[in-house]
Amino acid sequence: MKGIILAGGLGTRLYPLTRITNKHLLPVYDKPMIFYPIEMLVKAGIKDIMIVTGGNNSGDFLRLLGNGREFGLKHIHYSYQEGEGGIADALKLCEDFVGNDKMVVALGDNIIEKNIIQVVKDFKKQKKGARILLKEVDNPSEYGVAEIINGKIRRIVEKPKKPKSNYAVLGIYFYPSDVFSIIKKLKPSKRGELEITDVNNVYLKRGLLEYSFLDGWWHDCGESKDALLEANNFVRQYGANNV
Ligand code: DAU
Repeated sequence: MKGIILAGGLGTRLYPLTRITNKHLLPVYDKPMIFYPIEMLVKAGIKDIMIVTGGNNSGDFLRLLGNGREFGLKHIHYSYQEGEGGIADALKLCEDFVGNDKMVVALGDNIIEKNIIQVVKDFKKQKKGARILLKEVDNPSEYGVAEIINGKIRRIVEKPKKPKSNYAVLGIYFYPSDVFSIIKKLKPSKRGELEITDVNNVYLKRGLLEYSFLDGWWHDCGESKDALLEANNFVRQYGANNV
């Protein structure tokens, strides 16, 4: 199983905090944001990791993380996304790294209280298709939202104005290697990005999308300055990636 952390994009929602640095290098309580998804993967037994970054500050990731010795890693792979063409566009860069393996894809600004150990086990056993994680939230319009009828996802809508449910799709995705052939056929959305929600909807149409619910709190720190502040306070109070 490969691990991928996507840490490109401009982080404009956090300006001016992100004007001279990459969002994922900002502090969340006592560590830079990028530490949390790395720890999450390592605690789930995933040690073959690629980080995709972009923008003007990509060199700082190397200075900060090196080969990941402080996470118990021998090596970290890096890739560079030119522009900010979306989450699926960043994932595209990992095709050679993944080969025929399965992968966990984590957005670099998502932090969780507990861990993904059981979900990784379930995904390893899953014979076909992809898996997503869901969490009930109060503000679904900020996320990809899964409409669920009789226990089955009917569709996923990206940041709907009138959400049909409170189930947000987390930025932690589980894919087989055919995800790259799906990305190659995607068209950019209205905001000019290759959307991960479109990828998930392809699996859904094929009847190949499973889901699990996340236990414990989850924060998308990049969503707003308030979300970033709240994440700092939650990590301070409860810790993150608890096993
Ligand atoms: O956090 C969960 C949400 O993440 C999902 O519910 C949404 O379906 C999904 O689209 C995404 O929404 P965001 O609006 O939060 O995505 P954002 O543009 O903030 O990008 C999230 C991370 O993805 C960011 O921290 C770095 C990475 N990224 C993003 C873009 C646009 C890249 O590596 N390259 C990019 O071009």
